[in-house]
Amino acid sequence: MPKHPVIAIDGPAGSGKSTAARLLARKLGYTHVDTGALYRTVTWLAIERGVDLADEQALAAVVPAIQVRFEPSADGQRVFSGSRDVSREIRTPELTRQVRFAAASPLVRKALVPVQRDFAERGPCVMEGRDIGTVIFPDAQVKFYLDAPLRVRAERRWKELTAAGKTVTLEEVEREEAARDESDLRRSTAPLRRADDAIVVDTGRFDVDGMVEHLAGLAAGRLGGGRR
Ligand code: DC
Repeated sequence: MPKHPVIAIDGPAGSGKSTAARLLARKLGYTHVDTGALYRTVTWLAIERGVDLADEQALAAVVPAIQVRFEPSADGQRVFSGSRDVSREIRTPELTRQVRFAAASPLVRKALVPVQRDFAERGPCVMEGRDIGTVIFPDAQVKFYLDAPLRVRAERRWKELTAAGKTVTLEEVEREEAARDESDLRRSTAPLRRADDAIVVDTGRFDVDGMVEHLAGLAAGRLGGGRR
């Protein structure tokens, strides 16, 4: 049982989870824990150390060293590994392709369980990922499963990428998103799956402010009516 309230947000890549989690956390004064950043930091540090990503034992051995900390910032949030700001390094397209080794590894996933649970020992959090409501906090007070049609998700990602100066077509982004969905849904270890008691929200139906209001209202209903 988490010591502090946990709002679990799961869903596929590009479902709007990160934006929703960040703004909801800010509105409620909770910590935003982006668990994808943990898998990304494991991958980044392994590459830094010359670890073969396909060597599962060696990859999992990196986990205790990641020491991830999140700091809110004007443009989202910054991710630190120890004292090093890795926010940019962990989001390159190349690293995004390589993160599947960590995500598909049972050893890495197991080693990251206590790391994720620890965040809720320190204070209330909005934790986003793929298995938060199912594996990490099956008894979270509030669980959301965010989703949107593939085309909507691809368009969002495409806008982010082009705004960041990348030259890429919408079709390319859509293909990459579909491939990531496929590997997240089909992998044998902790495939993306909705918790039975999660509230499903189609984020394609809302603008950002509307979505945060909607989630905050639903969360207040659950948190208010139950244990805190
Ligand atoms: O959300 P993201 O794109 O930053 O996630 C990076 C990768 O980590 C992605 O392949 C899915 C995986 N992941 C996971 O398997 N479980 C989580 N709780 C969070 C992310």
